[in-house]
Amino acid sequence: MKNIKAIIFDAYGTLFDVNSAAEKCKEKIGDKWEVFANYWRTTQLEYTWLRSLMKKHKDFWQVTEDSLNKSMKAYEIDSSMRNELLDLYKTLSPFKEVPEVLKSLKEKNYKLAILSNGTPALLNQLVVSNNLDNLFDDLFSIEQVGIYKPDSKVYDIPIKKYDIQKNEVTFLSANTWDVSGGGNYGYNSIWVNRNNNIFDNLDYNPKHEIKDLSELATLI
Ligand code: LAC
Repeated sequence: MKNIKAIIFDAYGTLFDVNSAAEKCKEKIGDKWEVFANYWRTTQLEYTWLRSLMKKHKDFWQVTEDSLNKSMKAYEIDSSMRNELLDLYKTLSPFKEVPEVLKSLKEKNYKLAILSNGTPALLNQLVVSNNLDNLFDDLFSIEQVGIYKPDSKVYDIPIKKYDIQKNEVTFLSANTWDVSGGGNYGYNSIWVNRNNNIFDNLDYNPKHEIKDLSELATLI
């Protein structure tokens, strides 16, 4: 990867641990906290794709609430947990290497940005609550284009803002379909394979696969 001008990160699952909200309630939820958290995440993503196909957009916070409602029914989680889970989702924890890696990238001459399904307010709250707010040039939200990833209009947002070529972007995501979405659009996509997953068959092979962001320093 040469001539990289911007390093762009997916947010949920890549920088921030989407399971950390349910994990913080594991005493109350019990052993099922992790299957419940995975179901919530899967349902949330399905709703984004389905809403984009149906052209019935609702923002990511509404989709997060709608998918939580279904997931709490599916796993018989007491309704008193709802507000606590939603509050925790607004301040998800970053993965442990994230602050240090971002700080070291900031010292180099790249544009650093998030490109996410999250609303501008959610993304702002995530970075502020984790003291990461001074590290990014931009927090790009799909709300600018009103359709979810992996629509190409989303991946166009930073290209237009920075007036750069698609192949001058390194894009990092833990979500395999997002790696493919960005890669098929023309980014250099890197897969952050945190959980030893299997990659998708969506016409794109990641330029690199790393276990966490600390390996990024050896690639760029
Ligand atoms: C995001 C989801 C895809 O942050 O994780 O856009």
